[in-house]
Amino acid sequence: MKTLLIVYHSMTDGARQMAEAAARGAAHEAGVQVQLVPARKAVAEDVLQAQGYIFVTPENLASMSGIMKDFFDRTYYAALDKIAGRAYVALICAGSDGANAVRQIDRICTGWRLRKAAEPIIVCTHAQTPEKILALKVIGAEDLKRCEDVGAALAAGLAMGVF
Ligand SMILES: Cc1cc2nc3c(=O)[nH]c(=O)nc-3n(C[C@H](O)[C@H](O)[C@H](O)COP(=O)(O)O)c2cc1C
Repeated sequence: MKTLLIVYHSMTDGARQMAEAAARGAAHEAGVQVQLVPARKAVAEDVLQAQGYIFVTPENLASMSGIMKDFFDRTYYAALDKIAGRAYVALICAGSDGANAVRQIDRICTGWRLRKAAEPIIVCTHAQTPEKILALKVIGAEDLKRCEDVGAALAAGLAMGVF
């Protein structure tokens, strides 16, 4: 049995919906168990025992969210040199950009020597005013389907031994 670890953080619920969609997509794959873990609860042991990863975060202040960064800070050295070659995908929930959060996650995963299994998905929620930025988000069906598909693809690759 392979394990796909999905680590996520979300402030206004968009990234959480994306993470759950990826988990739904992956859940159909026999031979792969999905672990969906909030970033503040995820520990190095979760990283070590998984064979594939989906990292899901908002972009806040041109960065991955602080709590997502805290997850990497707490687990990076405990997992270094122990997970090389395993597959990952980044999913970003952003207002209008998201590129810097992708860059940061890619850089950390390069340090871990992970393998990018698919291009990142950036979903933009397009809120422009403080009130709308702080409001709960609803991610559209098409974007959720993209997240589901990437979860399914990563799980299928793990099950087949591609990753
Ligand atoms: C403090 C803060 C900073 C933000 N900075 C950015 C940013 O740098 N780039 C961007 O595209 N969106 C930015 N946003 C918008 C969020 O990425 C967007 O609202 C997204 O839906 C957040 O994901 P979540 O719903 O999972 O929390 C920011 C939002 C907040 C609250």
